[in-house]
Amino acid sequence: MSFSKIIGTGSYLPEKILTNHDLEKLLDTSDEWITTRTGIKQRHIIDKDQKTSDMAYEAAIKAINAAKIDKNTIDLIIVATTTPDKVFPSTACTLQNKLEIDGCPAFDVQAVCSGFIYGLSIADKYIKTRSARTVLLVGVDAMSTITDYTDRGNAILWGDGAGAVVLSNSHEPGILSTHIHAQGKYEDMLHVPRKIDQSKDTIEMVGNQVFKIAVKTLDKIVDETLEANNLRKSDIDWLVPHQANIRILEATAKKLSLSMDKVIVTIDRHGNTSAASIPLALDEGIQASKILPDQLVLMEAFGGGFTWGSALIRI
Ligand code: UT7
Repeated sequence: MSFSKIIGTGSYLPEKILTNHDLEKLLDTSDEWITTRTGIKQRHIIDKDQKTSDMAYEAAIKAINAAKIDKNTIDLIIVATTTPDKVFPSTACTLQNKLEIDGCPAFDVQAVCSGFIYGLSIADKYIKTRSARTVLLVGVDAMSTITDYTDRGNAILWGDGAGAVVLSNSHEPGILSTHIHAQGKYEDMLHVPRKIDQSKDTIEMVGNQVFKIAVKTLDKIVDETLEANNLRKSDIDWLVPHQANIRILEATAKKLSLSMDKVIVTIDRHGNTSAASIPLALDEGIQASKILPDQLVLMEAFGGGFTWGSALIRI
């Protein structure tokens, strides 16, 4: 039996930082409100001349180096993003060109904040069915480019960044299971409608309703994942969640009876980076030698669509 395993991680955050105090100057908000309601203190923002693919490239190079592979052995590139450089081609094709890799398939996955879990699910299946041996998966978003900085209801949440993993075939798991779902009937609760005039398309969200559905749905996906693997809550070593709101992270940790020191938390410094948040958190946990080989990691995400999903992995 062939399994897939993460053999290298990498991440990238733009230099420019937007603090809550900076936002106080733009919006009717306060550091105190943002901190207590979301857990966010600051977020990273790309420069005007920077693109999503530039962030993806920086994270990908680090993951390739960490995996100690020849980049030409990569036989599939997947980029999970909601903020592609162009309408087409895919950011995955642009990334392939920047990496000077030729010929392997490359495509984007659009599942908003759940994009990395969707991508992991696809990568795992490609490797398990021996359709690929080495997959580069990047979760990357430049959320600042689709944020309406006059809307205090959600502008305070978003940040930019990229996280990447290299997956390879392995005799031992690896990825134990992935679970992905969608419910399109909720599309209007969190979306970026296309404007008919030439103005910027920006995020619209019914935040408090999204919050409630996210907590309930993540509760269910935790049960689904544990049951599928015949595991108990106490078997989980680390929770690496999508970073949407500290209160959502705390609710999932409570559901798992995990103390918060077993949750990788980046939201205070990164904000919500959409598809990038899980691989950014995973890389941070591994680089800090918190997440160790052989440990069991649960990842989960919820986002626009609605989409949601989880992955259970052995490091
Ligand atoms: O990653 C994809 C999935 N996304 C999520 O899961 C996001 C989920 N939603 C959230 O994180 C939260 O709903 C928000 C952080 C967006 C909002 O927090 P909330 O506690 O749900 O606040 P609310 O929208 O219910 O608003 C409560 C009050 C309102 O004032 P009144 O009507 O009670 O007087 C808002 O006008 O807070 C006000 N408010 C703010 N005040 C200061 C809303 N945004 C702000 C703000 N600063 N930025």
